[in-house]
Amino acid sequence: MKKNNNNSQQLKPEGPWFLFLTVLVLIGGALLIVFSLQTTSSSLLSCGGALGRRALPSRNETQLAILHYATSRVVPQQTFEEIMVSFNVLQSIGPCNFLVFGLGHDSLMWASLNPGGKTLFLEEDPKWVQTVLKDAPALRADTVGYRTQLSEADQLLKHYQSEPDCSTEKSFLRGNDKCRLALNKLSDEVYDTEWDMIMVDTPRGTYFSEAPGRMAAIYSAAVMARNRKKSGVTHVFLHDVNRRVEQMYAEKFLCTKYLVKAEGRLWHFEIPPSANVSGDFCYTTQRSS
Ligand SMILES: C[S@@+](CC[C@H](N)C(=O)[O-])C[C@H]1O[C@@H](n2cnc3c(N)ncnc32)[C@H](O)[C@@H]1O
Repeated sequence: MKKNNNNSQQLKPEGPWFLFLTVLVLIGGALLIVFSLQTTSSSLLSCGGALGRRALPSRNETQLAILHYATSRVVPQQTFEEIMVSFNVLQSIGPCNFLVFGLGHDSLMWASLNPGGKTLFLEEDPKWVQTVLKDAPALRADTVGYRTQLSEADQLLKHYQSEPDCSTEKSFLRGNDKCRLALNKLSDEVYDTEWDMIMVDTPRGTYFSEAPGRMAAIYSAAVMARNRKKSGVTHVFLHDVNRRVEQMYAEKFLCTKYLVKAEGRLWHFEIPPSANVSGDFCYTTQRSS
């Protein structure tokens, strides 16, 4: 009887057995959480598998992006201040349709900053597409062929003046074989989507004169923006505006008067649909709609 009394005494909340069992349950729970976290992160970050091999909901993608940038020594090329320009627009209009010229160390960041929206990357280098998607297979990227070379930038402006299919009146991309500045073989998805934001941060515009340059990307972004049917403007961001060709093409096709912000090497344009503009797109005042 006395022994039984001792046992019930020990199992009371203040008894040693109760305390022991509580500690045991707490340790077990903690171990379970740590184990499940380790399993998740190792399956997502293991060699060759990496970030988001499965189709993951956007919340998980955001968490994976945080993990990726917290553990990576390679950072995006744009500065914090430059990134904030697009970030602020994404905050105000997102989720939105975001087209990004160039796959890079910033791609996971752009996709994660547009949760619930459509973010599509256009990249000229197929090997680089494979490399990036190996580590971040949840990203969506198309490979794009360019018909231009950086060394032809000046000559292509003359081609633009003389080729009727480059004209702002015609303003088309799909199947536009004659205008070399038009990206004429993109996917239907690119042509059929109304892009709210377009970031031009590729093709490579330096290193070697045979590089495709950004002429066609800038021209095509301008055409997409002008052809917008939805209300509101298209936000176009151009990086590396310290370079002559980028500046020249931006002023010509994205138009200085639509430049709303300059931060470091980044320019931000807000381009209205051409239906709202009378006369020459770059040099006349906007019609009130
Ligand atoms: C002009 S850079 C800018 C990329 C991006 N803004 C960033 O922060 O990473 C990106 C382009 O360089 C090319 N590229 C090729 N190999 C690369 C590499 N190892 N790292 C980064 N870019 C590479 C790709 O064509 C890509 O579109």
